[in-house]
Amino acid sequence: MIGIFDSGVGGMTVARAVERMLPDHRLIYFGDLARTPYGSKSPETIISYARQNTEFLLAKGARLIVIACNSAASVASDDLPTRFNVPFFEVITPAVTKAVASTVSGRIGVIGTRATVASGVYVKKIKAVNPDFQVFSQACPLLVPLVEEGWMHKQETKMILRRYLEPLKQKCIDTLVLGCTHYPLLIDLIQHRIGKRIKVIDSAEVLAADLKNYLEQNPEIDNQLERGGDNLFFASDITEAAKSIAKNIFGREIRLDRAAWE
Ligand code: DGL
Repeated sequence: MIGIFDSGVGGMTVARAVERMLPDHRLIYFGDLARTPYGSKSPETIISYARQNTEFLLAKGARLIVIACNSAASVASDDLPTRFNVPFFEVITPAVTKAVASTVSGRIGVIGTRATVASGVYVKKIKAVNPDFQVFSQACPLLVPLVEEGWMHKQETKMILRRYLEPLKQKCIDTLVLGCTHYPLLIDLIQHRIGKRIKVIDSAEVLAADLKNYLEQNPEIDNQLERGGDNLFFASDITEAAKSIAKNIFGREIRLDRAAWE
């Protein structure tokens, strides 16, 4: 199976894109709802959670892991492949690829959690492509809890978004990276606030396309991945809001099982 994890429900936006791109492959998703948000925690804590999540997915039969969480990817992407002998994919590299291809002015905004912004990973990766590009980052720590609460259309969320996006607007960016897999659930509000001329980048589809490409080129890995059967969804805590967001993302009822830690 293809294992996908996030701190909560945000990574389901990635799981949905992978499901569309690879409809025959079986997916197993884990959302660490009991410990969300990751983005306000230290790198050490996030790394240890990422290791546990990977162990859980591998124990359930995953043979390839997608880190569908920017906060985890920003601090644990180097660590995980040294501990687990399976291929890893993460959401940051595809977002960077898409952003650098889309910008004309070279002025790119990135919004993410505190952990992602503090890691500097987007700045590093974008500047590695073109050192003249300018990257303006904004941590948005209130957005993940608002999404997890299902407050996607509340007035309060719009006001908070305005506070976060105003400084980026003033930097005259032409591209804005959604550096958190929860943010695609707010994409309409974000696009409205930042302005329709600004290209808003979500990495889910690029990641899914990269993954498909990789599997086509690596049949020995692809052959180890299970096909058929319902996709599996686990969470370390199950809330009504999570169930309803899952349904909203997939357009169907999602059976969310509680993960029993070994
Ligand atoms: N969806 C996550 C991310 O992409 C996690 C956010 C969080 O738990 O703080 O960063």
